[in-house]
Order: sequence, then structure tokens, then C-alpha cells
Amino acid sequence: MKIEIKDLHVEVEGNEVVKGISIAIEEGEFHVLMGPNGSGKTTLSRTILGHPGAKVTGGDILADGKSILKLGADKRAKLGLFLTFQNPVEIEGLGLMNFLNTANASLKEKGSFREFMTDVKDTARELDLKDDLMGRSLNYGFSGGEKKKVEVLQLRLLKPRIAILDEPDSGLDVDAVRIVAENINKFRQETGAGILLITHYSRILNYMKPEYVHVMVNGKIVEEGGKDLVEKIEKEGYKY
Ligand SMILES: Nc1ncnc2c1ncn2[C@@H]1O[C@H](COP(=O)(O)OP(=O)(O)O)[C@@H](O)[C@H]1O
Ligand SMILES: [Mg+2]
Repeated sequence: MKIEIKDLHVEVEGNEVVKGISIAIEEGEFHVLMGPNGSGKTTLSRTILGHPGAKVTGGDILADGKSILKLGADKRAKLGLFLTFQNPVEIEGLGLMNFLNTANASLKEKGSFREFMTDVKDTARELDLKDDLMGRSLNYGFSGGEKKKVEVLQLRLLKPRIAILDEPDSGLDVDAVRIVAENINKFRQETGAGILLITHYSRILNYMKPEYVHVMVNGKIVEEGGKDLVEKIEKEGYKY
């Protein structure tokens, strides 16, 4: 699968937030999108997944050459797109295990429920999540770190073809950043998926090997390069 974002313009509440972005992500590739707060990274990621609040006013998003702009979020997920949220929502009353199982059943051919349960338990353990979390409501009262890890748990279980990860490292302590990074790496090795990782810190990238780095400031891509660019930004800040 290949996702092509072409000269994309997006408005939120009447303000242009994404101002002509072009990025192409293919399965197997590892991209990083960096940029200061408020540059439009989250808006861009939501637009790719079809968030109703993000209004596309120009450009296109193609999946294997076909526009997906008219598809709802569910159809985009079925194509193999997945987004982990910067601020995961709490849903009281929706059990985490129930949620995972429903998402899995809607995206994949029916496998054995027992096998899936085992997969959930093993992966939760690799993420160092407590067992009792599985019996609780989705994200309800979870710590910031637990919420982020549950996003990565979904990523590993649902195995999308292209994943957009919106600041999976924000608000995590050092050990949690390492565990999250290791699990994203493992997801990539196991599936060969494409990744667009959004972050504004280079810390998580100490554990990862991105191939392409894009820097976004004020709705536009201002510089692109390889991993060297991360070190440059770490030293000099976002001087654009
Ligand atoms: N629901 C919203 N209503 C109004 N403005 C919004 C909304 N969501 C985002 N914005 C604005 O869009 C800009 C980009 O935000 P965002 O995409 O979250 O940036 P980033 O993820 O790079 O920090 C900000 O100025 C923000 O205030
Ligand atoms: Mg953001």
C-alpha cells in the first residue's frame, strides 16, 4: 500500500491549519514528522484518517493511486490505515477487552477468539501493562503512560499496513519511552508496515531508525532529510 498526500490544504473551524503538504508513505518505509506545537501535525494525521472536523479545501490523499477523501474513517481503517491518538479518549462502560475484540473482528477475518486473547495477553505483557487493565473501561482513569501503551497495544494487535503515530512518546517516563519504541519497532519487523511517527522530541528516536524525516512548521514542510536532521533540530531548535 502507498499513501500519497498531495498539496493538501486543511481548515479547522475556518482557519487554514495545513497549508500545502505533500508526503508519500509506502509500506515498509519509516517516516518521522517533527515540528513545534501548533504546526498542524495532529490536524494532518486526523485528516488522513478522515476526522469530520478537518475540512480539506485543496489537494488530495491517495491510497494506491485512488482518492480516499470521500471514504469514512471506517473504510480507511479497512484499507489498512491506523492512527494512534495524541490524547486517547476515555470511554466509561466500554471494556478494554471488548473494544479490542470488536476492533479486531471488524478489521480481520474471523480467527479464534482464544488465540486473540492469548495475543492480547502476551503483547500487553511486552508493553509492561498490568493484567487488571484488561477488565477496565477503555482509558477510563488510566495514567498517561497506560493510555499511550494501550494505543501501541492496538497497533500491534490490529496490524495495519500504514500506521500514523501521533506523539506516542509525549508524557512518558524514560522506561516507558523505551518500551513504546521497542514495541513499535517490533510491530514494524513483524508486519513490514509503513510508519509515520509524529513527535517533537528526538528522545524516542534514540531507539529507532527512521529513514525519512520531514519538518513541519506553521502548516508547511520546511525541511526534509534523513536521521541527521533530528540531531540538527536537537542542537539548533526549530529555526525556520
Ligand atoms: N478543534 C479546533 N478548533 C480550532 N482550532 C483548532 C482545533 N484543532 C486544532 N486547532 C488549531 O490548529 C492549529 C494546529 O494544531 P495541531 O494540529 O494540534 O498542531 P500540532 O499537532 O502540530 O501541535 C493550532 O493553532 C490549533 O489551535
Ligand atoms: Mg499534535
